[in-house]
Amino acid sequence: MQSLTQIAEQVKTCQKCDLYKQAKNPVPGEGNAQAKIMFIGEGPGATEDELGRPFVGNAGQLLSKLLALAGLKREDVYIANVVKHRPPNNRDPQPDEVAACWPYLEEQIKLIKPKIIIPLGRHAMARFIPIGTISRNQGRVFRREIKNLGKLYFYPIYHPAAALHQPSLYRDLENAFRRLPAVLKKVMAN
Ligand code: URA
Repeated sequence: MQSLTQIAEQVKTCQKCDLYKQAKNPVPGEGNAQAKIMFIGEGPGATEDELGRPFVGNAGQLLSKLLALAGLKREDVYIANVVKHRPPNNRDPQPDEVAACWPYLEEQIKLIKPKIIIPLGRHAMARFIPIGTISRNQGRVFRREIKNLGKLYFYPIYHPAAALHQPSLYRDLENAFRRLPAVLKKVMAN
């Protein structure tokens, strides 16, 4: 098994899909390698592409504030994305791009062994929970068998960027974070 650093090195030179061609920097992910909670976003935006770090733009600032509602800091969790290079103009990642990038995320999950995975928004959710919509599934705990990874807990929530565009989603998003310590406690006990 490789290390998170080795995965980041591979992402740097990855040409498994075309996204690298227009991206400035790879964004492999960052955080606590022993995190109990792993957040998985969709893909890097403009600021992330500039800096090579996940969730450092507007959505990232909101994510940091939301983490504080759960008594968490960024350093407590691991943050990654389903695709590691920025989709041009922030378009949705295509299924072939998500599939090409999956081995990196799969390996990151294997190494970190989080107690719970929090997919941010519908694209990240769809990779793990192919049923229901994000509005129906957000804030609910799922336990699902994922090929090569075994049974994992998931707690999908709205993407912070969605709440920036649609403030009516804030309440559900904040509630999901306020409930996170209790959710974590429950899955740890199982
Ligand atoms: N949105 C995402 O899905 N990921 C990031 O890293 C930043 C914004």
